[in-house]
Amino acid sequence: MSDEPVVADVVVVGSGAAGLTCAIALAERLKVLVLSKADISAGSTAWAQGGIAAVLDEGDTFEAHIEDTMIAGCGLNDRRVVEFVVEQAPAAIERLAALGVPFTPGETVSERFHLTREGGHRARRIVHVDDATGWAVQKALERAALANPNIRVLTDHVAIDIATERHAEEGVGFVERRAHGLYALDRQRGVVRRLLGRAVVLATGGASRVYRFSTNPDGATGDGIAMAWRAGCRVSNMEFNQFHPTCLYDFRVKNFLITEALRGEGGILRLPDGRAFMADHDPRAELAPRDIVARAIDAEMKRLGLDHVFLDLRHLGRTFLESHFPTIVARLKSLGIDPAEQPVPVVPAAHYTCGGVLVDRHGRTDLPGLYAIGEVSQSGLHGANRIASNSLLECLVFGASAADDILARFADTPPPPAIRPWDESRVTDSDEEVVVSHNWAELRRFMWDYVGIVRTDRRLERAARRVALLRDEVDHYYGRFRVTPNLLELRNVVEVADLIVRSAQARKESRGLHFSTDYPGLSDPPRDTILYPSRP
Ligand code: FAD
Ligand code: SIN
Repeated sequence: MSDEPVVADVVVVGSGAAGLTCAIALAERLKVLVLSKADISAGSTAWAQGGIAAVLDEGDTFEAHIEDTMIAGCGLNDRRVVEFVVEQAPAAIERLAALGVPFTPGETVSERFHLTREGGHRARRIVHVDDATGWAVQKALERAALANPNIRVLTDHVAIDIATERHAEEGVGFVERRAHGLYALDRQRGVVRRLLGRAVVLATGGASRVYRFSTNPDGATGDGIAMAWRAGCRVSNMEFNQFHPTCLYDFRVKNFLITEALRGEGGILRLPDGRAFMADHDPRAELAPRDIVARAIDAEMKRLGLDHVFLDLRHLGRTFLESHFPTIVARLKSLGIDPAEQPVPVVPAAHYTCGGVLVDRHGRTDLPGLYAIGEVSQSGLHGANRIASNSLLECLVFGASAADDILARFADTPPPPAIRPWDESRVTDSDEEVVVSHNWAELRRFMWDYVGIVRTDRRLERAARRVALLRDEVDHYYGRFRVTPNLLELRNVVEVADLIVRSAQARKESRGLHFSTDYPGLSDPPRDTILYPSRP
């Protein structure tokens, strides 16, 4: 079943920091449709803890933030993009403060905001709202978007694919090659709708749920990356999957992050016998960039056959922990762990997708009219490894710069043509949902085992064979049965797993987040991995 198309000026897919920032800026002049595949707060933004990096302290400099970002990125950052984002950061923070984000104030009158420190940053430059920054940012952006008469939010709508000239009704004449809108499954009504506009903005977040253990919410399945790839866009640097060193190890909770800011404030990683081990792996110890810390933990766990290591916070004291990290302390206590008395069990988990849809400084992709912003994109900011707290910043800066570009081009952009309804004439309801759940579990397990923190050629070959098998099954299933949210996500994670494995196989060196025991050294010059779609 399909129904009448909904036409707006711009369709934004995603209601996290990137999508809502862009929508709010666009809505000054245009009618905007914002989609979320679940509720409005469903993305990673609401879960962010540590904060947002910005040069706000007199002793800090743009140059230092730029250098720290580039050191972590291991030669693959685009310096012009890094400069652009770092220089826009203070204004982005001001916009959030104006929307009512209650940033934690400084401890002296001269300090407007309290600044914390995280791995890879040489200075205190992380502005935050206690340890629940993302929630405060998400709620302020939601309030502004929901109060804006030019923004319509459609929750429970799962975008399936971009509508291009290939989806135009027959007989409409010449149709320009560009994004004209998209197809989306309305979960409540079970219908696929056509949502059309002069531009489409993908702000769908990352793909870390492709791994068995992840800090991300369920929907982080790389939908936007898969959609852009299928629509003919290049995808880049997908081998750089960031594993956060400290996810809580507790079977009662699937994915609870223990913020890096705790290591910034002096938290120490210890083995079960109490020995601190990070200094054996890097002179920066607990404050080394996360790829190094995650690999060190992984190495110690493998060496000693451990399920987890410990983060020791006891010396920071109860008063400090409860006042600076109230959310984490409360959550740990609810699980019977008192961090002022006991070390906290932690493991690395998939956290952030550094690669994504290749974009320019305005979030423009290879397909005219299609933009990608935030974690779904590869803008050149992060290179081979993202430094802490630069991600929300990227969402805020690119949300605004994509909106500027769309507004500047809008008058010269054609309205969308008539797009064909979704064709369900050859499908039936699935009689084997177990295929979907089984393949989901299998994929996430082998991605963790074979394409995780440490890689080898043989493991990648094994993963590639399994991805090919799953792709056949999923394609077959997709062609026969009516789409469901789970099937759509499975189709996307298989696509994304394929892109990750192919990118990892292409990189014959160890750089940033990609570490292979077959190629432990660096090769010169540093190069991005760029995958070209077969269909232009
Ligand atoms: P998201 O906030 O993930 O939003 C994605 C949106 O897209 C959602 O609305 C989702 O419903 C929608 N969507 C996805 N697919 C579809 C589809 N097919 N159809 C319709 N809608 C769809 N970064 C920092 O800078 N600082 C931090 O302190 C920090 N802490 C973090 C802590 C945790 C636990 C996690 C998981 C991440 C953290 N990060 C942090 C990373 C950062 O939160 C994310 O990179 C960032 O929030 C991504 O924002 P986004 O707008 O790109 O996507
Ligand atoms: C954290 O708070 O440790 C996460 C910060 C980030 O991912 O940038």
